[in-house]
Amino acid sequence: MKLCMIGTGYVGLVSGVCFADLGNDVICVDKDFSKISSLKKGRVPIYEPGLSELVIKNYKNKRLRFSTDLKKSIIQSDIIFICVGTPTKKGGSSADLSQIFNVVKEISSSINKFKIIITKSTVPVTTGDEIEKILSKKNKKNKFSVVSNPEFLREGEAIRDFTYPDRIVVGSNEKKSIKIMRNLYSPLISKGAQYVNTSRRAAELIKYASNAFLATKITFINEIANLCEKTGINIEDISIGMGLDKRIGSRFLRAGPAYGGSCFPKDTKAIISTADKFKTNLSVIKSVIKSNENRSKLLLERVYKILNKRLKNKQITFLGVTFKANTDDMRDSSSLIMIPALIKKGAKVNYYDPTGYKKEFSKIKNVKNSATIKESIIGSDLVIIHTEWNDFKSINFKSLARSKKFIIFDMRNIYSAKKIKNQGFKYYSIGR
Ligand code: UGA
Repeated sequence: MKLCMIGTGYVGLVSGVCFADLGNDVICVDKDFSKISSLKKGRVPIYEPGLSELVIKNYKNKRLRFSTDLKKSIIQSDIIFICVGTPTKKGGSSADLSQIFNVVKEISSSINKFKIIITKSTVPVTTGDEIEKILSKKNKKNKFSVVSNPEFLREGEAIRDFTYPDRIVVGSNEKKSIKIMRNLYSPLISKGAQYVNTSRRAAELIKYASNAFLATKITFINEIANLCEKTGINIEDISIGMGLDKRIGSRFLRAGPAYGGSCFPKDTKAIISTADKFKTNLSVIKSVIKSNENRSKLLLERVYKILNKRLKNKQITFLGVTFKANTDDMRDSSSLIMIPALIKKGAKVNYYDPTGYKKEFSKIKNVKNSATIKESIIGSDLVIIHTEWNDFKSINFKSLARSKKFIIFDMRNIYSAKKIKNQGFKYYSIGR
């Protein structure tokens, strides 16, 4: 099948490359010339395990092409995936759909034969209806079909999530496009993925409701962790004990810092904004947002307490600063709140991240990037394990602390409290 992916961010690039790997002809289009020319040279602009290899492989065998020519790419394709960003509107909470509608205008004037137009970007309920209205102005109804096909890829696990999805959701009630979409996904369905066909609006809402629910699950366990800290209970026992109930499930029950990333914070706000439009109060999700915003403050309070409120000239190390492991993405990472707050109190921060230097801290005095774990830790008063990279899972703290003992605050509960304490370190973690 001939596919066109508009937008080469996480969603467009990963999906495009994976569709090419399944044997389709894929053109990935982006208006960013430098991005496209890098991709043509096999250089992938984002950190995503396994992506680079798949780009090179499929580009070489010519199933994958890159272009900046939107019109030409649309004309050459039968299935058009819209994968552009839908960030939070500046100064608001609803999704900014300007990039979506700009692309739709271009599509509208380039429909030369029947095309399926698919929103893979996360878009509010009724966006598909609006796209259809725009396309209908210039095109006959039998020349196009607008479908919602949300993605459920996690950064850092995106290739695996694409290849072995729990479910594929296709929102359409038009027979022709349902058949084509099922065909497109048949290699994944035959490997066991559940295929769910719903109305277009339902598919749009499934995406937001899923992200809001996962954000709720994390926030719930984070609050229970707060209670565990006060009652001498180990949160890990609670996660296991709850997760074994099949109705609850064990995934996304790991307590830690505030959730971040490009999706949960933006999508929880956007679903509330949509609900407001339809005069519906999503009070649970509202509380989740509030609780998550408070979480960084709460963990900062713990840091102050651990250091006896004396932060002036204290050396603090951050191991990992991205919003989670296996990504270089800094969007809405809790480190962006915690590090400046600690600096303000007079501390000095060294950070080490497996994905290297972060421009986000470049303007903050007293924040230094270290090239190795060892370099970041030496001379430290407090080491904060902020993300759960494998690189941080078996650090020999004893050998690094030869000159000075530091305190460890493990915000991802990677280590056994007993083992670390036996090595003579003061050790703090989450909910235990
Ligand atoms: C999320 C969803 O998991 C994907 O299904 C969805 O497709 C994607 O958003 C999207 O809408 O594009 P992602 O933002 O990549 O994926 O990251 P997650 O793995 O979901 O993690 C989000 C945040 O929750 C991170 O800060 C992570 O550390 C935190 N988290 C996750 C926890 O604190 N505890 C957990 O048990 C799981």
